[in-house]
Amino acid sequence: MRYFVTGGAGFIGSNYVEHLLRNVQGVTGVTIYDKFTYAANPKNYSEFSNDPRLSVVKGDICDVPTLESSIAKHDFVIHFAAESHVDRSIENGSAFVTSNVLGTYNILEASRNAGIKTIVHVSTDEVYGSIHEGSVNEEYPLFPNSPYSASKAGSDLLARSYVKTYGLDVRTTRSCNNYGKYQYPEKLVPVIIRKLSYKLPVPVYGDGTNVREWIHVQDNCRAIQLVLEEGSAGATYNIGTGQRVSNLELIQRISSIMGMESDLVELVSDRLGHDFRYALDSSSIANLGFEPKIDFDFGLKLTIDWYLNNNSWWV
Ligand SMILES: NC(=O)c1ccc[n+]([C@@H]2O[C@H](COP(=O)([O-])OP(=O)(O)OC[C@H]3O[C@@H](n4cnc5c(N)ncnc54)[C@H](O)[C@@H]3O)[C@@H](O)[C@H]2O)c1
Repeated sequence: MRYFVTGGAGFIGSNYVEHLLRNVQGVTGVTIYDKFTYAANPKNYSEFSNDPRLSVVKGDICDVPTLESSIAKHDFVIHFAAESHVDRSIENGSAFVTSNVLGTYNILEASRNAGIKTIVHVSTDEVYGSIHEGSVNEEYPLFPNSPYSASKAGSDLLARSYVKTYGLDVRTTRSCNNYGKYQYPEKLVPVIIRKLSYKLPVPVYGDGTNVREWIHVQDNCRAIQLVLEEGSAGATYNIGTGQRVSNLELIQRISSIMGMESDLVELVSDRLGHDFRYALDSSSIANLGFEPKIDFDFGLKLTIDWYLNNNSWWV
């Protein structure tokens, strides 16, 4: 089977490529299709550079001729490519609308024209907006609050329309926050590790009580593969763990694993439109047989060790 992985040089995409090449049976080809924005890093897949199954195309999902010629002759498309940082979308949302909405439209059209069997569209829990109590399943309405999450919600709706209008087998995953190796150091977990490694205070928005649900990236990659192999055509799957902590608690956990004081925190003015809490009901993916394998503290320890041992990747 031949896989076309958009955004495969970024954080989750490169972990997924590693999962495919290491653990998945019957993989005859993997194409990374990536624009190589600031968030991509060729070191993320360099250990597979001699694997004859891997090829890499530097291409933009908004460059239709290059996309169409590259996507041909693949069985599956796993669509990770996106602008992904909420703060950047608040500064300027233009690239988010272009890559996340128009880019996803191009992926859907190119997949339809190329006769791709199944597309997995990788989305986020942020499309549901802030969930003040309980948890939400896949039927919950989309109430995005940032330009990033609005652009992802737009891409989800386009994916849905291709299922209904053309009968294209597009499966959408909405995962909670990922952590693990290869995450660009602007995101919360690497920011915490980096600051604490220099014994500097960690900046936290507002009063630090905002709650996020967390999954280790390798568990998310397994879940995405399960959706591809066992999911229903055209269905949407939340991918969560139930592991929900406030940002302050996250800092405390990482501080404790690193053997640091837990009071190295600097409260800064809140992010505009900051969602208070995300919480997923992940029964649908559980019904496919998914359960997260990586315990939160153990996964954080693995991640801390990776960042501390791979200074050259991120400094
Ligand atoms: N990181 C998380 O916690 C999280 C949680 C839920 C969902 N997601 C979703 O997962 C996907 C991957 O997220 P990530 O954290 O790995 O992001 P990332 O920013 O680390 O990587 C994104 C990759 O997409 C590429 N890209 C961006 N625009 C492109 C374009 N126009 N054409 C081709 N390539 C382009 C970048 O070069 C980069 O390699 C995104 O769709 C994101 O919305 C992320």
